[in-house]
Amino acid sequence: MNEITTKILDQIPSNVKFSEEDADVLIRNKDKLLEWEDGLIQGFYDSVFNHDTTRAVFTEGERPAREQTLRDWYQRTLNGPFDDSYWEWQTYVGLVHIKRKVNNAMVTGMWGWIATYLSSKALEEFPQDEALKLVKAVHALQANVTALIVESYLKNMFVAIDKAAGLNEALLGRLVATEIDDMLANAKS
Ligand code: HEM
Repeated sequence: MNEITTKILDQIPSNVKFSEEDADVLIRNKDKLLEWEDGLIQGFYDSVFNHDTTRAVFTEGERPAREQTLRDWYQRTLNGPFDDSYWEWQTYVGLVHIKRKVNNAMVTGMWGWIATYLSSKALEEFPQDEALKLVKAVHALQANVTALIVESYLKNMFVAIDKAAGLNEALLGRLVATEIDDMLANAKS
């Protein structure tokens, strides 16, 4: 796995991180989960297009192509495998999102919607034991994927700042450390 992906996933406690058991439960139920695909795509893009700030991300007529992007992601996820290239792809999404000005509030907000949608469906359509395993797997997937997308968004911003202004992440960290106490004091008051 590439360095940035490994470093980001290493930040998540191992009992919270997506596990072999989570992969098994998604893959053994994938036929049912794929039946929920149309609702997932429709609900996701209705939310995003019914809100001015998120709608502004898209160009005229782009919706069908972006719906297909989300379909491809969902199908690739459920078909597995959860290998290095899958996690590295999620890291790459952070970079694509910088280019398209899809910020982390948008991503974490919409992941909340995805997790609620899939968990509700699981609780409606599976016996409780299996439903709870699915809910756990969806939330562990959310932990990994959002971590990779949002953290690579941030880290790649630092890389761009370094390239453009010669201010590397360590130096930026030291500048932040000298400013943070004043910022906290201001925020408190
Ligand atoms: C919530 C979880 C999200 C996931 C899992 C996700 C996943 C992806 C993936 C897999 C790609 C394609 C990367 C590639 O080229 O291989 C992508 C691109 C993109 N996403 Fe997201 N995304 C999410 C949220 C959002 C949100 C909330 C928006 C907008 C409000 C958004 C807008 C876009 C746009 C505009 C692109 C660029 C497509 C292009 O220019 O090719 N995404 N995303």
